[in-house]
Amino acid sequence: MTDYARYAERRKRLQTGMQHGIAVIPTAPEVARNADTHYDYRHGSHFYYLTGFTEPEAVVVLVAGDKMQSILFCREKNAEREVWDGFRYGPDGAAEKFGFDAAYPIAQLDEKLAELMGNQPALFYPLGTDPAWDARLLGVREAVKAKARSGIHAPGELRDVRALLDEMRLIKDPHEQDIMRRAAKISCGAHRRAMRFARPGQFEYEVEAEYLHEFCRHGARQPAYTSIVAGGANACTLHYVGNNSRLNDGDLLLIDAGCELEGYASDITRTFPVNGKFSPAQKDVYEIVLAAQAAAISVAQPGKPWNAPHEAALRVLAQGFVDLKLCTGTVESVLETESYKQFYMHRTGHWLGMDVHDVGEYKSGEQWRPLQPGMMLTVEPGCYIRPADGVPKELWNIGIRIEDDVLITAQGNEVLTLDAPKSVAEIEETMKNNN
Ligand code: GLY
Ligand code: MN
Ligand code: MN
Repeated sequence: MTDYARYAERRKRLQTGMQHGIAVIPTAPEVARNADTHYDYRHGSHFYYLTGFTEPEAVVVLVAGDKMQSILFCREKNAEREVWDGFRYGPDGAAEKFGFDAAYPIAQLDEKLAELMGNQPALFYPLGTDPAWDARLLGVREAVKAKARSGIHAPGELRDVRALLDEMRLIKDPHEQDIMRRAAKISCGAHRRAMRFARPGQFEYEVEAEYLHEFCRHGARQPAYTSIVAGGANACTLHYVGNNSRLNDGDLLLIDAGCELEGYASDITRTFPVNGKFSPAQKDVYEIVLAAQAAAISVAQPGKPWNAPHEAALRVLAQGFVDLKLCTGTVESVLETESYKQFYMHRTGHWLGMDVHDVGEYKSGEQWRPLQPGMMLTVEPGCYIRPADGVPKELWNIGIRIEDDVLITAQGNEVLTLDAPKSVAEIEETMKNNN
């Protein structure tokens, strides 16, 4: 399949799922940073999934039913602007290259939409995600309603297009799996690089720079999310992104970092000793988190419910917390009372795809949905021990998370991120020449 045929096929699949009506899916807006600068532009994931088109100021409109149509609205060619900002396809170029039935200048969107919406029974769009789009599309719908006396009716049904699109995106096709394998490989290389680079006395941001360098030199120009580079006690702050503390001899370093490649995320966490050697207490906690992760990955299998990996991890962590005297009672009572939440307060994973926390429901009705081939998820148990009364002092400020990216396959699963050292022996071997 050519690159652009796969997007046309997705549009057709969405139109078939809609059965009737019209869908309007805008890309992401450009966001000003200050004065004349903008945040790095990132297309909208739903829009990109259906088009492969990365320019800002674009909207795809799909008409379902007997007369299917696939229409792009985008920026016009503009010789002067292209001198400053670079090439733009323009409607004619985009229609030809990306395989749309028609394309128009974005400035004509409201006028054309008012024509296209006429006599359509349903309007599908990402309902409620952006008040400006809600107001704009409902405004166009009102304009169509005003034509009632000429026998034209406006869409009576408003539908959230994400109900269909999220389900499509949840199952990654072989092309998407291939990109995500490559993204994972680049991120694994960055974790290896960081392990070889880290030394006591460095600042967290120096290690962060190694990631950004490794991502970028492989064509992954951006991280998929802000990297967490957290030495010592900072690892116990789950969303620590300051990344500006000095790394101390004897501390652990938790790094949650992954690149985005061709619009797809990777998401990896590794935790390793700043000086290359785990202390006995650090090793005790690390081995428990590692065992919890292994238990979780072993049940990430087709047919198992979404929650099975979380439950498997929790059971191992609860036993470990009892053994380490972090929790009192039995495994059953720790699970029942949720006393483990003092040290493990997040869930064991999420869907992964174009968005790091990707789209897709986790439940079907009241039940956790079964895992299916093509689903991609993270498995990321952890343990975060803040100083507190009753907590053994030698464990204070140890924060550990181990996170891998897992594809559900027909046979079981494939861990995409095995190249990032994970066992105590592998990590210490990787770091052995650091000092
Ligand atoms: N890096 C975000 C997460 O692990 O969920
Ligand atoms: Mn994650
Ligand atoms: Mn992560």
